[in-house]
Amino acid sequence: MSDLASLETEILAAVDGAADEAALEGVRVAALGKKGSISELLKTLGAMSPDERRTRGAAINEAKDRVAAAIADRRGVLRRAAIEARLSRETVDVTLPVRPGPLSEGRIHPISQVIDEITAIFADMGFSVAEGPDIETDHYNFTALNFPADHPAREMHDTFFFNPKEDGSRLLLRTHTSPVQIRTMISQPPPIRVVIPGRTYRCDSDATHTPMFHQVEGLVIDRSSHFGHLKWILEEFLKAFFEVDHVKTRFRPSFFPFTEPSMEVDVGCRRSGSEIRIGEGDDWLEILGCGMVHPNVIRNCGLDPDEVQGFAWGMGIDRIAMLKYGMPDLRAFFDADVRWLKHYGFRPLDLPNLLGGLTS
Ligand code: DAH
Repeated sequence: MSDLASLETEILAAVDGAADEAALEGVRVAALGKKGSISELLKTLGAMSPDERRTRGAAINEAKDRVAAAIADRRGVLRRAAIEARLSRETVDVTLPVRPGPLSEGRIHPISQVIDEITAIFADMGFSVAEGPDIETDHYNFTALNFPADHPAREMHDTFFFNPKEDGSRLLLRTHTSPVQIRTMISQPPPIRVVIPGRTYRCDSDATHTPMFHQVEGLVIDRSSHFGHLKWILEEFLKAFFEVDHVKTRFRPSFFPFTEPSMEVDVGCRRSGSEIRIGEGDDWLEILGCGMVHPNVIRNCGLDPDEVQGFAWGMGIDRIAMLKYGMPDLRAFFDADVRWLKHYGFRPLDLPNLLGGLTS
């Protein structure tokens, strides 16, 4: 056997013996690469006579073609084998149950859901959302809202105060969302239509009170808004929120330093056992406070009460969430008990909106 023939046999045997694509690539480089055995033979042609070159050149090139073809064949075989091996290794048992992921397991807290519902309802009436800090000054929380200095109303709120600063002033945890009324009026010109959801704090704890709770406030300031508008807005809100066609409301005179006149609003309901149904029956349930913004408050914000007027209201979010979704104990809201959240929470993609239905 000529040297060429035995080299070819040797290479073809190595091709057949290559166990995977990497080994095959090694064989290819050793034979056909720049310094491969067949490439080296081709380089010897230059030194040959023309006759010798013709016969020898043809023989080497044919051997080269056969080796290249054999490598291509073997590569195809190895590739298919590798795929087969992978398929049999990575089989999926489609009969296994799907493992639960965050979308099926995660829940939106009822408070977050109710805040989204409330803002969806008021956004539909043209209100925007305003927010303010949880840590407030005495000025925004009380003084600018027309609470007289040393007036018992300040104590009524069971305020959490921080330690006094050197100048004697004390920061506090806001006792209501009303200070954001002031922040809104001093930062944007009328007409103002905002709802203000947020955390509030009072030193109080039992089945219906927690030291941290949530309120939502509404504020309208322009030239001509009056009590009739307020009544309509509140009734529309109550119907949309409790998803009923009719509600009865009862406005009772009350007192808040920042509104004059001030009212408390009851909504008609039916009580049976521990269940309360809004929009039916002859009972009443107190649901919010409201009134015409006091001229002093308007003045405290640098506006002229002879030019602009308006109304405000405020209510507890936790309470109306308990009412709507039948949750008996407020404290459970803040226990971070996953079982409770799984039962009362909402699925992450059930975003409330008026078109799709608040709680569809
Ligand atoms: N800030 C009051 C409270 O926490 C609630 C309230 C009553 C807010 C009347 C208002 C309002 O804006 O007009 O008890």
